[in-house]
Amino acid sequence: MAELELVGLSKRYGRDLVLDDVSLSVQEGELVTVLGQSGSGKTTMLRSIAGFVTPSGGDVLVHGRSVLNAPINQRGIGIVFQNYALFPHLSVRQNVGYGLRVRRLPRHEIRERVDRELDRVMLTPYADRKPGQLSGGQQQRVAVARALVLRPRIVLFDEPFSNLDAMLRESLRRELRDLQKRLRFTAMFVTHDQREAMALADRVAVMRGGRLVQMGAPTDVYERPAHRAIAELLGRANLLDCEPATGEDGRALLRWRGHTLRTDDDLAGAGADPCVLLRPEYVAVRPGAPDPPAPNQLGGVLSSVEYHGSSRLAVITEPGGGTLLADLRAGPADPYLAPGDPVTASWPAAAVRVIGS
Ligand SMILES: Nc1ncnc2c1ncn2[C@@H]1O[C@H](COP(=O)(O)OP(=O)(O)OP(=O)(O)O)[C@@H](O)[C@H]1O
Ligand SMILES: [Mg+2]
Repeated sequence: MAELELVGLSKRYGRDLVLDDVSLSVQEGELVTVLGQSGSGKTTMLRSIAGFVTPSGGDVLVHGRSVLNAPINQRGIGIVFQNYALFPHLSVRQNVGYGLRVRRLPRHEIRERVDRELDRVMLTPYADRKPGQLSGGQQQRVAVARALVLRPRIVLFDEPFSNLDAMLRESLRRELRDLQKRLRFTAMFVTHDQREAMALADRVAVMRGGRLVQMGAPTDVYERPAHRAIAELLGRANLLDCEPATGEDGRALLRWRGHTLRTDDDLAGAGADPCVLLRPEYVAVRPGAPDPPAPNQLGGVLSSVEYHGSSRLAVITEPGGGTLLADLRAGPADPYLAPGDPVTASWPAAAVRVIGS
């Protein structure tokens, strides 16, 4: 049975439907990330689950039972807010123990549970410090410990790393992932960073305009996005508006600006104007014009190269003015390509993904 289930969850503010009929389920011990642009309804969804927002319709089930009428602190759901919301005047120990004191647990039990929790998140040496005396990452762990000490079955995270620098973010992400797998709680983690969403998740839930538009393993949503907006949300994408055609051998193929594309995908259901997703990292680039012309390649001019350290992002302009992005993964011995150079871009048929528009 699913640990957490949303059934047709909706939220209306005045005339705005900001959460629109969202249904999904999260399995026990699973970590689902929620990815979506600003304003897509991620926080509203999380707050509706935790009980800070009253939904306009639908239901929230925990282990098959509706929690909509349960008070916030009896839902078995913890939440870690974006700004951590720690009490500045309380020590780390007092912050973590706060929820247990509110619940009037015996003092020795509070002490015991707080100590164990601090140990689990490796904060024992900092127990007597105030939040202001901690680094951002340590504060983040206090917020996590404060949620976990209540032993929720489900923990919700609302962009907890959004204020941190890229390095710290990456290490915290790994820490959180390890902790979650070790303690086996069920988690939902909101982010609008697509790398974070994919790196953390068992499954990614993609939100758009209040709707859940796709949910699947990171490779599914990245490689097989349900439509073009999702393809773009998950990373750089060449989205090519193609025409269906038939090759000399009678096989179905696609044409983009006069260039021939072969795909391993089934073209039977592709419709009259199929859209192709071709990720830049699957496009190989070599100097010179294509010779002889062949499917899944095109000649063009390198119009710009952006240096990213571990890779370079190239824009190739074909004779008709169409552009193609390609990741150049340069080894030290690779030929140096400069803007203005004639180049050939090529890609395998397996990289040509026909998606809905
Ligand atoms: N209390 C409210 N009253 C009216 N509208 C609201 C309220 N809270 C949120 N909204 C609106 O609902 C929509 C979704 O907001 P929400 O905070 O869920 O987005 P989000 O996906 O979390 O965005 P972000 O990535 O910026 O945090 C937005 O258009 C927002 O303006
Ligand atoms: Mg938000």
